[in-house]
This record gives sequence, C-alpha cells and structure tokens, in this order.
Amino acid sequence: GSANKVLAQRVSNCLKLPLSKLEIFIFPDGERRVRVLDNVVDQHCVIIQPTSRPVDQNYVELFFIIDCLKRSGASFVTAVVPYLGYQRQDHVFRDGEAVSLEVISKALEATGLNKLITFDLHTIKTPDIFSIEFVHLSALRIFSEIIKKQKEIHQNSILISPDMGGIRRIKILSNYLNNMPFATINKNRDLETGSVEATDIEGIEKQSNFNSALIVDDMISSGGTVIAAADLLIKNGIKNIYVFGTHPVFSQQAPALLQNSAIKKVFVTDGIKIDKAK
Ligand code: R5P
Repeated sequence: GSANKVLAQRVSNCLKLPLSKLEIFIFPDGERRVRVLDNVVDQHCVIIQPTSRPVDQNYVELFFIIDCLKRSGASFVTAVVPYLGYQRQDHVFRDGEAVSLEVISKALEATGLNKLITFDLHTIKTPDIFSIEFVHLSALRIFSEIIKKQKEIHQNSILISPDMGGIRRIKILSNYLNNMPFATINKNRDLETGSVEATDIEGIEKQSNFNSALIVDDMISSGGTVIAAADLLIKNGIKNIYVFGTHPVFSQQAPALLQNSAIKKVFVTDGIKIDKAK
C-alpha cells in the first residue's frame, strides 16, 4: 500500500522478491481506486501497510487491496500492519463509546483477509478480538541488540515502563539484557483532555544510583507519557534518559516537545513512515 513504501521496498530487497504493481488512483473527490496488475491467481499475497496517520485512509486502502487480491484469485492474503491503528480503542472506557478495534477486525475479516502480522501491540489481549490467524511480533530483540552495543546506554542503567501496562515489555527486555534492573511508573491520564501525569516510581530502591534510565514503550503519540516519565526520573536524580518506542506515531507537537524535553535520545523503528521534518 502507499502508507510506507520505503519499508515495503526494504522488505522486498531483503527477500529478493519484487513488489507487485498495484495501481492506486485517487479521484478528484478523494476516493481511491485500487487495482492489482499482476496475475495473483493461486498466489499467497503479502500486503505491507501500517495504519498510522492518515489512519482512516490507510485502513480503507488496505480493505480495497485485500478485496482486489481476493477477487483476482489470490489463495491467501497476509497483511503486515506494523502499526495497528485504533488498537487503543479495544473496549468501552466510558458509556456510549464505540469499540473501534472490534469494528476494524470485523471489516478486515469481511474483506477476506487470512492472516494479520503486527508488532508491539498496546496489549497482548488484542489478538483475542480477531478470529483470523494473528501473529504478534516485537522490536524488543532489536532494541536489546542496540542497547548492548552502546556502553553509555548500557552501563549502570535501569529499564523503565512509563505505565503499568508496559511491565511485561520491560521484563522481556530485562531478560534479553542479562536481567538489567527495571522499575515502573504509575501514570494517570485524563480521558477528556488526554493529559498525562506520572505520579511515582515503583521498584527503584531509594539508595540506588543509576546513571541512565531507558524508558520503553509500544508507541510515542503525543509524547506526553515518555516526557512525564522522563521528568519524574530526572527529579529522582537520574541524569541520562533514553527512550525506546516501537511506533513513532509522533502526533501534532510531539517532535518539538521531545526535542525540548529532558530526553537525550529517542530510538524508534521504521514501521511507520515519518515525515522528514518530524
Ligand atoms: C499507553 O498505554 C501506551 O502504551 C503509550 O504509553 C501511549 O499510548 C503513548 O501515548 P502518548 O505519547 O500520547 O502519551
């Protein structure tokens, strides 16, 4: 799809398999027409399409690609969706809300998708919403290799989950890093405004004296979560703050806020295409 062609090309180069010719025509009114030009009869087709911003457009395009492949005779369609949009709306938080992820899952299944491959989900319960084959991969192993290679990041460091939902993630990373110590931050988010408050840290001994904290999260959207965590860690005497976030969603002012924050460096993957300016 058109959401991250650079990634699709890199995967195609790695596999030494050409990218299929896909015609995506945009009408003057903004509607898209998707047409596969290759013969896909009895083929297993793999679509690469993160559903990051513009979320709805990328989803609709994904639906159309699946549909045109199935109609053209593809025997099996796998969608690699590195970042799965709407995954945070997986249940009713407040009365009257839609469960958006359930709608997405029904739509993907209705178009005939056979298998979904995605990365570092917000919660490990997400696959339960889908009834098709579902593979949940992670960038944590790649992050661990990067951390191991850089002494200034690796030495006398502690892994930090910026909220209770990320404990599983830092335990896995700690395991990859010879049991690097870890701690968790308690976070409150205002459901109306989205603003984030980091209240306290669980798991750091008062007398401990870490040089660096490595905050690990699934995604960086507004940047509020990791910035609030970084501020709290600085208050607790930790000098160097690094952030590892799989999905650089980088909404609105996030790049500027991160640039002006106490965070030294942010590591992300290339699952989402990021504008140069960001
Ligand atoms: C929330 O539970 C997620 O794991 C992320 O921490 C969160 O979605 C990041 O969003 P933001 O950057 O807007 O705080």
